[in-house]
Amino acid sequence: IVQPKTSIILFGATGDLAKRKLYPSIYSLFLSGKLSDNFVVIGAARRPWSDAELRENVKKAIEETHLSNERIDEFCQHFFYLPFDVTNTESYLKLKHKLEELEAKFEIPGNRIYYMAMAPQFFGTIAIQLKKEGVTQSEGWNRLVIEKPFGHDLPSAQKLNNEIREAFSEDQIYRIDHYLGKEMVQNIEVIRFANAIFEPLWNNRHISNIQITSSEVLGVEDRGGYYETSGALRDMVQNHLLQMVLLLSMDPPIRLATNEVRSEKIKVLRAIRPISTDEASDYFIRGQYAAGEISGSEVPGYRQEKNVKEDSTTETFVAGKLLIDNHRWAGVPFYVRTGKRMAVKSTKIVVQFKDLPLNVYTQKSEDMTIHPNLLVIHIQPDEGITLILNGKKVGLLGETIPVDLEFKNNSIDGVNTPEAYERLIYDCMLGDATNFAHWDEVNLSWALIDPISKAWAESNEEIEQYVSGTMGPKSSEQLLSNDGFKWWALK
Ligand code: BG6
Repeated sequence: IVQPKTSIILFGATGDLAKRKLYPSIYSLFLSGKLSDNFVVIGAARRPWSDAELRENVKKAIEETHLSNERIDEFCQHFFYLPFDVTNTESYLKLKHKLEELEAKFEIPGNRIYYMAMAPQFFGTIAIQLKKEGVTQSEGWNRLVIEKPFGHDLPSAQKLNNEIREAFSEDQIYRIDHYLGKEMVQNIEVIRFANAIFEPLWNNRHISNIQITSSEVLGVEDRGGYYETSGALRDMVQNHLLQMVLLLSMDPPIRLATNEVRSEKIKVLRAIRPISTDEASDYFIRGQYAAGEISGSEVPGYRQEKNVKEDSTTETFVAGKLLIDNHRWAGVPFYVRTGKRMAVKSTKIVVQFKDLPLNVYTQKSEDMTIHPNLLVIHIQPDEGITLILNGKKVGLLGETIPVDLEFKNNSIDGVNTPEAYERLIYDCMLGDATNFAHWDEVNLSWALIDPISKAWAESNEEIEQYVSGTMGPKSSEQLLSNDGFKWWALK
């Protein structure tokens, strides 16, 4: 096992992401032997905490997970806290000294990860100041990990990118999309490129449409303030869902190297048909959750949530159709949908194959229908694949019946799927940026999304409501039925 010797400077150490995802993930790396003793985490944030307070919080965060508590105290000895004012030069100088002191003590050769997990309006300032005050002038490598949202639209993303590029080069920048760290999202490439039976069919001659659903049961929780400026299109589609579209649609890379994979993704992203503001409603629809019932309890509508305007038109649900104008995909719609307060928490991809040109079984009798072949990739919470084929229904009539060939990761004994963040943090330590978004991806994806946001911002149509606990508004069904398809409801 490679054990990178690294300092992680965590901006936003008192925040929610650090607590829920980052501390447990770093601990899990520690438990699995992927961190040597030569690592430190410097938590930086505004609050006047001490090392002891940070360690107490790290410990609490880990105790709330399923991870073994055995080595928590030893782990916490690697954590240090620095009260930090992002606009004050003094803070950066202190950070520099702290790093030098700790790197000497823990024998770390100046390898530094600056992890931005705080309010995005400071990302640019911090990056610039880190360089200006000489913090990034170390003996080892310096890398910047940057959380979403990467901008709010194309101009703001460009501005942010220009700022961070003043201090870090593109190959030092790791833009996180945590979906790219998920086990089954990474499995998309394996399924496609390691199986002789799929790749020959992976095109418009054999596939009729592809559907990606990422549904959530939770509402906006405490994030009303952020969500009001975002909505589901920016929050989920611009990044997570588009990334899955790219992995499903890109050509096979010539090698599994970062630049090769990225250039295939960028190539297919460039082939996605742009949607103008005028035609947005033909391709994308939106909805907002109304009050309803989830697991037997009443839940309020979006407009009743904390920090949400009473007449908010922010979408909490999006369904859309993307067309890829290249040889492989011309004519095959990629449908995406995502929303909060839906019936289930689930992310799934359904690849629907074309019907046979002639089916002798449907000829036999009027009501004998044949099921299309489907390949279902279960991203979460189940992890696995199902291939739906037709078999013979047992009996004398020669009828057909859909049968499922199923593989589930969670049924392999002793397998504990790593957290997406665990993998991504480790990748960054190793210098592997394959599962991070390149600027060109971010750039092109905002360019695709912006006209749709604009159409919605300018629209004076009422936003369609859907009852909490359902699979979204009616127009979502219509989007597919207009093309002769339907969303596959699969367990
Ligand atoms: C985040 C969004 O990027 O992804 C959240 O900001 C959303 O609104 C979350 O809930 C979903 O992630 P996951 O891993 O739970 O599917």
